[in-house]
Amino acid sequence: MEKFDVTIIGSGPGGYVAAIRCAQLGMKTALIEKYESLGGTCLNVGCIPSKAMLDSSEHFYNATHHFKDHGIKINTPEVDLIQMVARKADVVKTTVAGVSYLMKKNKVTVFTGHGSFLTKNKIEITKADGTKQEVESDKIIIATGSKPASLPGIEIDKKRIITSTEALVLKEVPKHLVIIGGGVIGLELGSVYARLGSKITVVEYADRIVAGMDRAIIKELQRVLEKDLDFKFLLSHKVTSAKNSGNEIVVIAKNAKDESIEIKGDYCLMAVGRRPYTDNLGIDKSGVKSDSKGKIETNEKLQTNIENIYAIGDVIKGAMLAHKAMEEGVLVAEIIAGQKPHINYNLIPGVIYTWPEVASLGLTEEQLKENGQKFKVGMFPFKASGRAKASGDTDGFVKVLAHETTDEILGVHMIGPRAADMIAEAVVAMEYRASAEDVGRMSHAHPTFTESFREACLDATGKRPIHI
Ligand code: FAD
Ligand code: NAI
Repeated sequence: MEKFDVTIIGSGPGGYVAAIRCAQLGMKTALIEKYESLGGTCLNVGCIPSKAMLDSSEHFYNATHHFKDHGIKINTPEVDLIQMVARKADVVKTTVAGVSYLMKKNKVTVFTGHGSFLTKNKIEITKADGTKQEVESDKIIIATGSKPASLPGIEIDKKRIITSTEALVLKEVPKHLVIIGGGVIGLELGSVYARLGSKITVVEYADRIVAGMDRAIIKELQRVLEKDLDFKFLLSHKVTSAKNSGNEIVVIAKNAKDESIEIKGDYCLMAVGRRPYTDNLGIDKSGVKSDSKGKIETNEKLQTNIENIYAIGDVIKGAMLAHKAMEEGVLVAEIIAGQKPHINYNLIPGVIYTWPEVASLGLTEEQLKENGQKFKVGMFPFKASGRAKASGDTDGFVKVLAHETTDEILGVHMIGPRAADMIAEAVVAMEYRASAEDVGRMSHAHPTFTESFREACLDATGKRPIHI
């Protein structure tokens, strides 16, 4: 039986990054993945394919709606969904091949098969053909990720009642896509199909979309989606049933007055969150404990109740984000190597890849109020940005929250063009505990979208923005 210093179960962004870092630190490292294709949810059916579809659909939308404003005349564009999905598959293929290359480069031994604990140090790997193999490992990292959640009594038939996985390989553009859940998946994949011509109805249990994000930002996002795309939001509506009757789906939801309403469409996307995935992992044989929601319990070192077993990513507490999983992969590898790394969970950005994009970091206005923290607010609208005027992306704004007396930046929330990339500057600023004035005094290339962050900082620090 082959023996390793570290074995990682699951090759998503948590697992493969942990494997690379362990190997870099001189450990004999194994990675077990049940699918032939490495990269987990993120690379195969999550971040990468959804962004490929978002980019393609955005091109179509711009060609249809904005090219003429720029003085570009074209014949009426048509959607070729089969080609769009094929391009997305190519993007996934090359990205996944990159992970296989990195495993070889770092001399990580990859096992293809389903991993299951036999003891706290032994794992059995079952291949697709049923053959079995065992490995022994000093340390083990569980990085088995998550799967889409459903609602009681609703059968996801994967034909008309689908999850994000099927939504990324549809063969036709839905006429009316009913989305259960106004979270990140609902808004991103809803945007893809709305841009391609679908009517979208989002049925959301809460009184707002994307709970947890700054209210002002989310209000603006909802306004723009309703203005630019065919989005309709049914907030404070709890879905109780969804049925496929052949070519039609019927969703039943209860409104705030407890009245049942019926929504008909041709496809229904279930996007009510994801559940930690530990099916057939044999955690009972390892002694590892999970909580009532199936999340593996860990301490601050991401160590489980069994000393030599760690867990990272979607399978443990915290935001279900690829970059959070990656940070945790590095952290655990370095802890095992005897180093003292740390993660500032407050500074993990949250992004929604709609257009305009939404990006958020640190505390929201609601959280600061709850904490009784006195703060200053700085705002800058993209309609006052020269770069945004040039590109025609004037919806949205940047909002900076700074400590009332020290001026330290406590939260940055933006909705606007390229917000997903712009938030990186806020991460650097907040990691170094910059004040709003610090950023306000730094040169930003002109004309760029990033000037809007600087202007919002100037507004927060002393109500002295230059361009409003
Ligand atoms: P996963 O990526 O889920 O990987 C776990 C791996 O473990 C899988 O490959 C699985 O096959 C394997 N596995 C499980 N059990 C076993 C076993 N017993 N034996 C062997 N292998 C096993 N996050 C972002 O940050 N940005 C985004 O833009 C973004 N977009 C998303 C879009 C969609 C549609 C979805 C669904 C998710 C998106 N996410 C995004 C979330 C992101 O994909 C996850 O947070 C991330 O993949 C979690 O990484 P992980 O390593 O914990 O697990
Ligand atoms: P989510 O947790 O973001 O949203 C689910 C929504 O469904 C919630 O708003 C909830 O109130 C609602 N809901 C629950 N039960 C309901 C019911 N009975 N009726 C109506 N609404 C109901 O989950 P989502 O969108 O499925 O995403 C899963 C995970 O994937 C998220 O945690 C997210 O972090 C990750 N992800 C991240 C992306 C990014 O970073 N850009 C993109 C896509 C996914």
